[in-house]
Amino acid sequence: MKQKYTVEKVFENVEIAEGVYKLSIKGKFNVKPGQFYLLRAWDLEPLLSRPISIHDVDEEKITFLYQVVGQGTEILAKLKNGDEIKLTGPLGNGFDVDKIKGRVAVVTGGIGIAPMLYVVKQLKNCNVDFYAGFKNECYSVDNVDENVNNFQLSTENGSRGHKGYVTDLLNTAEYDMVLCCGPEIMMHKVIKMCEKTNTTVYVSMENRMACGVGACLVCTCKTKDGRKRTCKEGPVFLGEELVLND
Ligand SMILES: Cc1cc2nc3c(=O)[nH]c(=O)nc-3n(C[C@H](O)[C@H](O)[C@H](O)COP(=O)(O)OP(=O)(O)OC[C@H]3O[C@@H](n4cnc5c(N)ncnc54)[C@H](O)[C@@H]3O)c2cc1C
Ligand code: FES
Repeated sequence: MKQKYTVEKVFENVEIAEGVYKLSIKGKFNVKPGQFYLLRAWDLEPLLSRPISIHDVDEEKITFLYQVVGQGTEILAKLKNGDEIKLTGPLGNGFDVDKIKGRVAVVTGGIGIAPMLYVVKQLKNCNVDFYAGFKNECYSVDNVDENVNNFQLSTENGSRGHKGYVTDLLNTAEYDMVLCCGPEIMMHKVIKMCEKTNTTVYVSMENRMACGVGACLVCTCKTKDGRKRTCKEGPVFLGEELVLND
């Protein structure tokens, strides 16, 4: 899939939970699940465009789900229908859905749910259970794809689902594969759980980026095969490939 730089118009940008927005842009987008775009809706400041995963794509639009955490996402949150937005992408390797087979657990933490619903939509011949964990408010959990057999929720404050961490609910021994996206600490925990049960795990890393296209090496992570760029060789890595610091 060739990456492109295009200037588009916002179709919709709505707050779906506190500080979490869904942004849609009309057009035809040829993407792989797990890839991302660099988004930019400003001229000079901040200097860098911001990487955001593909949350959904259909015949007529692409959708992003993002959490407001700083200057870039604050600007995105103010966008109104018809405003200009610049997109570079699709970027990164994405998930190779043809290699994902058997009993699969998809595990997400917070905004890590953003890329994974579209990944699930694209899975074929799998038996999928979805585990989504949040701090307190849940989002994007009410229209989970029909591909999912069993959907389990957790919140740290117990407002919905299991009270505690999503990893409390997971028994990796029950699965052939685990796909995970969330805070780094959670992904490391899931990798270690999978190591113990000999379960294949793919994680989607969200390292801080600068260029986003493989040139600056800001986003590298340590692997058994040397340092690899999250924006180019990733963001999806085989868990056993990564060298964890903790
Ligand atoms: C491949 C990839 C896909 C991503 N997909 C999504 C997505 O779908 N939805 C979404 O909401 N976010 C996603 N992110 C994270 C998102 O890019 C950052 O939250 C965003 O760039 C922050 O920009 P800002 O200007 O608002 O905040 P900044 O002012 O740049 O940072 C504000 C705070 O957020 C922290 N922060 C910034 N970037 C990251 C990061 N990558 N990981 C952890 N903390 C960070 C900073 O340390 C700081 O504390 C993704 C990141 C990557 C690398
Ligand atoms: S962000 Fe520059 S190499 Fe990945």
